[in-house]
Amino acid sequence: MAKLNHLFVCQDCGTSHSKWSGRCDDCGAWNRLVEETVRSKPGSKKIQTEAFFSPLSAIDEDILRQQKRLVSGIEEFDRVCGGGLVPGSVILVGGDPGIGKSTLLLQLVAALSAVANCAYVSGEEALSQLRLRADRLQVNKAAVHMAASTHVGHIINALEQLPNLALVIVDSIQTMAVESLESAAGTVSQVRASAQEFITSAKKKGHVVILVGHVTKEGVLAGPRVLEHMVDAVLYFEGERNYDYRILRSIKNRFGATDEIGVFSMENQGLTEVKNPSALFLANHQQEVSGTAIFAGVEGTRPLLLEIQALVAPSYLASPRRTAVGWDNNRLSMILAVLESRCGISSANRDIYLNVAGGLKINEPAADLAVAAALISALKNRPVPVGSVYFGEIGLAGEVRSVNHTEIRLKEAEKLGFSNAFFAVPRTPKKNKQTFGDASIQVHPLRYVLEMV
Ligand SMILES: Nc1ncnc2c1ncn2[C@@H]1O[C@H](COP(=O)(O)OP(=O)(O)O)[C@@H](O)[C@H]1O
Ligand SMILES: [Mg+2]
Ligand SMILES: [Zn+2]
Repeated sequence: MAKLNHLFVCQDCGTSHSKWSGRCDDCGAWNRLVEETVRSKPGSKKIQTEAFFSPLSAIDEDILRQQKRLVSGIEEFDRVCGGGLVPGSVILVGGDPGIGKSTLLLQLVAALSAVANCAYVSGEEALSQLRLRADRLQVNKAAVHMAASTHVGHIINALEQLPNLALVIVDSIQTMAVESLESAAGTVSQVRASAQEFITSAKKKGHVVILVGHVTKEGVLAGPRVLEHMVDAVLYFEGERNYDYRILRSIKNRFGATDEIGVFSMENQGLTEVKNPSALFLANHQQEVSGTAIFAGVEGTRPLLLEIQALVAPSYLASPRRTAVGWDNNRLSMILAVLESRCGISSANRDIYLNVAGGLKINEPAADLAVAAALISALKNRPVPVGSVYFGEIGLAGEVRSVNHTEIRLKEAEKLGFSNAFFAVPRTPKKNKQTFGDASIQVHPLRYVLEMV
């Protein structure tokens, strides 16, 4: 007789509680505990009875696998994965509904089906809908195995019938359900159990599994914070509704660098790769306007030039407004304080707005110097020197700290026709001015923000 277990599972962090309460003890979220019933089948308990040791030099299976990555030829995707998909790995692709996850992954399987055996399982769309999308994306000739199902057991059985399977897309994990759980698809227990089944099959058979996960409004994968720990890589597909570009970003990757990005543009026939994103983001840049500065950034291993805009307006509020879009508000306040105390540039009685053009978000502290340049320019109402880029972290003493990837940043700026670069003096004496001396870009190493003023 199957035993029924009643559990209360937090839909935010996935912790199981034996009793209901208004607040999750683990993560502190309110009203997120949902009763889920687990039917444990008799005899389904797996007990591991053996463990093995083997010499380090003999463990070459995984290494061999990793060397044979599946390369799709969609460079923006391959790079974010660390140079292709590693056989036997499991990847979670998260993003807002409608952002283009299904589109991207259908294009991916279509591209890979030329060299490997691929399957695409949809729990969200009927086969006819998938076919219509494939027609629109002009990939309807691709030899991809398609299925529409939400039943994990059936899917895994069917996958085992496919010879030499290399990749399976599960779209989305929130629609999948395993039989042994009574709770509805999309609950934490179902998401976790379904993912576990796919992960086990990937590790056993050596194929790649890509799980699609929808993100909640708060920006977390619905329930699956637990999933992030279970999978090998987590990629986020993001973008702004009002812009055509989409960014695929690696948040976690056991087989490659994190913070790597791939840039795509959403067109009628699907996603196209953007090989030179800096040019895209600087397209509307006007040099003669005060309050703008170009930041020479690096996302992962790739340089990305972005425009930072600052606007200063007289304030009639007791505490003037400080608003940053695409940049950390606390960091904005810090830089304003440094400008006031170390450079004598006051922003009292003025509202300040800061914006990263194109709707992008910057996490690098290296943008400090560009933010400072935009703010100084706005506060003094004078444009920054023509053709300048900025990068460097600012410390509380008003010092400019060096950041990594100086060469990459300078090269990109040079390639896009910039003539001046303001940045921190590199830490190692070897990499002084001379290193960049032969470049056509004029370098201005700084020690203090004050030197820029
Ligand atoms: N017939 C169409 N023509 C052009 N673009 C479309 C069409 N149908 C859908 N799209 C675009 O594709 C997007 C949906 O992408 P999709 O891959 O289904 O997103 P997700 O899987 O992340 O929910 C829509 O937001 C829209 O921009
Ligand atoms: Mg979809
Ligand atoms: Zn919780």
